[in-house]
Amino acid sequence: MDTKQEIDIQKEFMKKVKELNNKIQKYAIFTMGCQLNENDSEKISGMLEEMNYEKIEDIKNADLVIFNTCCVRENAEDRLFGKLGELKKIKEEKGTIIAIGGCMMQEKHITDKIKESYPFVDLLFGTHTLHKLPEDLYKILNQKQKEEDIIDIDGKVYEGLPIKRDSNLKASVTIMNGCNNFCSYCIVPYVRGRERSREPKDIIKEVENLAKSGYKEITLLGQNVNSYLRVEREKNIPFEQYKGINSFATLLQEINKIDGIERIRFISPHPKDFTDDVIDAIAKCEKVCKLVHLPLQAGSTKILKDMNRKYTKEQYLKLVEKMKEKIPNLTISTDIIVGFPGETEEDFEDTLDVVRKVGYEQVYMFIYSRRIGTPGDKMENQIPEEIKHIRFDKLKKLVENKIYENNQKYLGTTQTILVEGKSKNNENTLTGRTDSNKVVIFEGDNDLIGKMLKVEIVSEHMWYLKGEIKHGRIFTNDAKIS
Ligand code: SAH
Ligand code: SF4
Ligand code: F3S
Repeated sequence: MDTKQEIDIQKEFMKKVKELNNKIQKYAIFTMGCQLNENDSEKISGMLEEMNYEKIEDIKNADLVIFNTCCVRENAEDRLFGKLGELKKIKEEKGTIIAIGGCMMQEKHITDKIKESYPFVDLLFGTHTLHKLPEDLYKILNQKQKEEDIIDIDGKVYEGLPIKRDSNLKASVTIMNGCNNFCSYCIVPYVRGRERSREPKDIIKEVENLAKSGYKEITLLGQNVNSYLRVEREKNIPFEQYKGINSFATLLQEINKIDGIERIRFISPHPKDFTDDVIDAIAKCEKVCKLVHLPLQAGSTKILKDMNRKYTKEQYLKLVEKMKEKIPNLTISTDIIVGFPGETEEDFEDTLDVVRKVGYEQVYMFIYSRRIGTPGDKMENQIPEEIKHIRFDKLKKLVENKIYENNQKYLGTTQTILVEGKSKNNENTLTGRTDSNKVVIFEGDNDLIGKMLKVEIVSEHMWYLKGEIKHGRIFTNDAKIS
């Protein structure tokens, strides 16, 4: 059966569940992982809303509670089990249906634990069976039985699932899934399967439709987003060459042409796949934001080798130099892990050295977390927790100092921001983001929401900037001055 037929079957199940649910049902969803995981949750919501479910926040009033899990670090497990403990009583009183999906469900030791310790859970589904939620739900509602729908395969590409997006301004578009890199600390390749890319025409159509619906910013998603179509090219897996798209660089160029879209971001790329064509495309495409995420993970060449990252400290720094040269106004963000097995003080100093040299816009810092089934977990020279924490705090201090330093360069400059809405903490101010994804808070009228606007930066506050509309309201998209 091809994937289209599989989706058609699920559409039939959506109708059946809708018939079973003769009145509107309420669901709550918890998304615990990365942006891909969030995008999956939007698809889960899309399917549920087709089936007469309405989203609410309060789990106590929900008929169905869904967890979309992550397993990249240990703390996600603690959070899930805590929530399940909370739900037990609610379920006893109300008969709430509880479903758990996502990456963690691809780990057998976790599903075993859930079945043993939380037997009241109704449905377990994995990353490869997300699209079968309608069928699984139908079985639970109709046959009043528990379901486990988890398979361990390389993975397929499914098109045509309904989607209910969280925002009406910014949208995520998954362009590829899975990972072939097997960094030695990382569980993702085991739970998400092998790299596979969507057809260019399906991506372009999705973005064109988003533009027609008024979306302004698109984030292209993939575990290894800049290796889009690489496996297909290398292994001669056929794909339809739509508008000449055969790589990440050519995809960026085509999306850049779509009217209505103002900004294009992408996450998460791998340094090894920043080929010259990709760098040139970022430089050339005016809608592609000049903030590039360049995950470092560690600064020491020895640790990078043990992590299986496929670049050295010097190669990484050279790449940064090259990108800074070729892409005007480039800003860089990164991910760093401290306390990988075997990391000495000297190795850690290399990480600090790279942080000092690159001058990151943003650094996402993580304490190494052992993941069962990864090579890192089997390494003997694990770092004691207290040393990991000392290093983490030291890195955090340096990063904060550098971010403060970096923020100063914004003062007095004019920045183009996409106005996203009212500020969370102050009804009277608006919030938007710069090209470099910095939050800017400023005073302005609600009719500015959704516009690209120029503001002058007047002060910095570590995690956000304050701006003012100084010279009339200048919109960049139509150069209109009012
Ligand atoms: N595919 C993306 C994201 C992977 S997960 C990428 O390659 O960048 C996001 C981040 O979590 C990683 O970049 C890494 O910094 C961190 N991470 C992954 N596994 C981890 C582990 N076992 N312990 C701590 N941090 C981890
Ligand atoms: Fe994990 Fe590395 Fe793949 Fe990223 S590239 S998902 S860190 S294995
Ligand atoms: Fe987590 Fe899965 Fe994303 S493990 S980081 S939710 S791909």
